[in-house]
Amino acid sequence: MAVTSGSAESTRDLASRLGAVAGAGDVIALRGELGAGKTQFAKGFARGMGVAAVVNSPSFTLMAEYAGRLPLFHLDLYRLAGAADALAGGLLDERQQSGVTLIEWAERLDGPVGGSDVEVRFEGAGDEVRRIEVIARSGRGEAYVAAARAWRERGAAA
Ligand SMILES: Nc1ncnc2c1ncn2[C@@H]1O[C@H](COP(=O)(O)OP(=O)(O)OP(=O)(O)O)[C@@H](O)[C@H]1O
Ligand SMILES: [Mg+2]
Repeated sequence: MAVTSGSAESTRDLASRLGAVAGAGDVIALRGELGAGKTQFAKGFARGMGVAAVVNSPSFTLMAEYAGRLPLFHLDLYRLAGAADALAGGLLDERQQSGVTLIEWAERLDGPVGGSDVEVRFEGAGDEVRRIEVIARSGRGEAYVAAARAWRERGAAA
């Protein structure tokens, strides 16, 4: 299913609804061009998970961990060339089962280890209205699709 978002705050609001349904072991893959809104989404998602800290792009560290209702692992794989780099760096290890893993530039991997539960695709950049598609890749992913649908039906700001 797809929604539209006309502002960064709207994208954060949508994402906070998705963060509220996140469960241990979930992997969320964010895809979209530079400036599409993936990090804005991560900020809102973290808020929905009860993370108090300010979330920024972990471009230089590849991964940042935040304490929320569950641990949140925020990855930005823009600099990675492939899955081998991620595996070598131990970015996706057994700890991900204890928390929620949100991956910007997930397409840098051939597919996240173990597969993603939900894929969030962003279209548009700059001042354009974003089209944000939420696609379930597992049974768990359906919870995110339902949350996005509920957000849309609540008539959130477009
Ligand atoms: N509807 C919208 N949703 C999200 N961001 C928006 C929207 N409209 C405008 N923006 C602006 O677009 C920019 C999105 O930046 P953001 O860092 O989230 O992109 P990104 O996808 O993470 O890029 P990168 O691939 O470089 O990490 C922000 O400056 C934000 O204010
Ligand atoms: Mg980003």
